[in-house]
Amino acid sequence: MNFDLVIRNGTVATASDVFKADVGVRGGRIAALGDGLAAGREEIDAAGLLVLPGGVDGHVHFDQPTGDESVMADDFLTGTRSAAFGGTTTVLPFACQEKGKTLRAAVDDYHRRAAGKPLIDYAFHLIVTDPTEQVLGQELPALIREGYTSFKIYMTYDALKLNDRQILEVLDIARSEGAMVMMHAENADCIAWLTEKLERAGQTAPYFHGVSRPRVAEREATHRAISLAELVDVPILIVHVSGADAVEQIRWAQGRGLRIYAETCPQYLFLTADDLGGDGFEGAKCVCSPPPRDAANQKVIWDGLTGGAFQIFSSDHAPFRFDGPSGKKVHGEQAPFRCVPNGIPGVETRLPLLFSEGVMKGRMELTRFVELTAANPARMYGLHPRKGTIAVGADADIALWDPSRKVTITNGILHHNVDYTPYEGIEVTGWPVVTLSRGDVICRDGALLAEPGRGEFLPCGLPAPARPKGSPAPVLPF
Ligand code: URP
Ligand code: ZN
Ligand code: ZN
Repeated sequence: MNFDLVIRNGTVATASDVFKADVGVRGGRIAALGDGLAAGREEIDAAGLLVLPGGVDGHVHFDQPTGDESVMADDFLTGTRSAAFGGTTTVLPFACQEKGKTLRAAVDDYHRRAAGKPLIDYAFHLIVTDPTEQVLGQELPALIREGYTSFKIYMTYDALKLNDRQILEVLDIARSEGAMVMMHAENADCIAWLTEKLERAGQTAPYFHGVSRPRVAEREATHRAISLAELVDVPILIVHVSGADAVEQIRWAQGRGLRIYAETCPQYLFLTADDLGGDGFEGAKCVCSPPPRDAANQKVIWDGLTGGAFQIFSSDHAPFRFDGPSGKKVHGEQAPFRCVPNGIPGVETRLPLLFSEGVMKGRMELTRFVELTAANPARMYGLHPRKGTIAVGADADIALWDPSRKVTITNGILHHNVDYTPYEGIEVTGWPVVTLSRGDVICRDGALLAEPGRGEFLPCGLPAPARPKGSPAPVLPF
């Protein structure tokens, strides 16, 4: 029995186990796990390395139209390149419906944007901004059946937000079709009211972006999202949770037996409101929504990650350059915070940051790291067990980690197309040194070995976690 590739002598970790094994790869898939496997055409000696499932980043924004003159810095080539160097082998960006247009147009446009570019496999979430009768009755159900089985809805941002009635209608379709709904939970009116007050007082520096989006606005929307989901009896996933108040709502709902899932991101562990700066514009680099909070809230987020309130850890990579005409300064260097594009880069640093501060500092087991960063996102979005695990039959998407390599994060070592990283100067222990996608070595020791366009589009299955509580029968995985 010959293999295309054998990875020998490494320590394999999945979401449930850590064990010594050789990994045999054939036809892009894992064909065997064992001790002393037969020779492969190629061999990698992984002695001293961890053999982890490639990361699944369930929340990234690449080349997403923004609605103004700003342009995202990363497309499907530079975004997936950055992901791959950070040990991530599957990404899920968003095909965003423009109000007044169809969802199908957004999907077609997004496939055009991706064509010929991705280095790793990818699926699309949808963003539903205009739930017309046609969208609810025909387009959305049809797209879900074609493999677009998750979508995001917004409770904030004028161009994107839905009202409660619209949210209920969209949730109802998710329930009947079995899709996963991601909720951006911030109260739009609270934010608009505070923004106007701050502007009247001349408090428009990036720092005040955080002041305009307080935790209570996130808490209220989180509670409302949970209540609407309970009314419809459909699971939802609250994305990019930033602080204690929202976590409290999520724990409350989970304690009541509701299927409420939650995601958090590196910015809520490693940044605080101070990173949004003083009077200057530098803080624009960290303008994202919800905004980073403070050290006490960081601790609550850590506790939620280690203790189980959160199911997934994503980057929310939303890349805008700091300098230049189409990024953070699109409306000038003195622009009020309301005009600063929201979002920060992080697809490459997501895994090293959590590995170093989580696993190496003893906050979480390696199995939990794999669960949060690969296995659970794959389950949540209908890609498991093809993605997110090391098992016979799974795609050979693997990251070989050197757990003792010390790296100081600087923008110069990263592979995105953004001119800064919010994590400049942080030293981490542990780094992915080889990344494989479907058995191909695509990154090795800093060299890119993949051709643009080799990444495949993944139609997603119906995610088991999206099944309503009232669902009658289990869906068997075979
Ligand atoms: O500020 C953020 N998070 N920008 C990306 C868009 C979103 O809401 O996730
Ligand atoms: Zn969001
Ligand atoms: Zn996002």
